Amino acid sequence: MTAAAPRLPGDPSPEAAVARMIRVDHAGEYGAVRIYEGQLAVLGKSQAGGVIREMAEQERRHLERFEKLVHERRVRPTALSPLWHVAGYALGAASALLGERAAMACTVAVEEVIDDHYRRQAESLGEDQAQLRRTIEDFRADELAHRDLALAHGAGSAPAHDLLTATVKIGSRIAIWLSTRV
Ligand SMILES: [Fe+2]
Ligand SMILES: [Fe+2]
Repeated sequence: MTAAAPRLPGDPSPEAAVARMIRVDHAGEYGAVRIYEGQLAVLGKSQAGGVIREMAEQERRHLERFEKLVHERRVRPTALSPLWHVAGYALGAASALLGERAAMACTVAVEEVIDDHYRRQAESLGEDQAQLRRTIEDFRADELAHRDLALAHGAGSAPAHDLLTATVKIGSRIAIWLSTRV
C-alpha cells in the first residue's frame, strides 16, 4: 500500500502523528530490550539462552534506530521510560521463571501485538514518510521472525498458555496506548 490512510476529524496532524509513532515505537523497543534482559537474567545459561540473546541483540538494534529518530526529529520521548524499565524486566523475568516455554510464549504474545501495531503504522504512512515506513516494515519482519523462533522453541506448549498469552497481550496493548500519549 502506498497511499496514506485518510485523516479523520479529530485525528492529530500528520507531524504529530509521526511524532507519536516514533515515541511509542521507541518506548516499545526499549520495553523489548528490557523483557529480554529479564529473561536472560533467569535463562541466560539455559538451553534457550542462545536464542533469547539473538532476539535481544536485534531488539537493541531496533532501539538504537528509534533513539536516533527521537533525536533527529526532536520527538519528546515517553515519560514512562522508568515504568517500562521495571515492567519490561519484570515481565521477562516472571515469564522466564515459569520456564523456557513460557518465556517463548511471552515473546509470541508480544510480537503478535507488535506485528499488528507496526502493520497499522506502516499502512498509515504515505510517500513523504517512505523511509520511516521502510524502517517499520523491516522491524515488523524481524518481530515476525522472533515469533516464529519462539514458536519453534515450544511456545505453543507453555504452561497456562492461554492465560499467559491473554495477559501479556492486554499488558502490551495498554503499554502501547500509554506510550503513544504520555
Ligand atoms: Fe523490536
Ligand atoms: Fe521482537
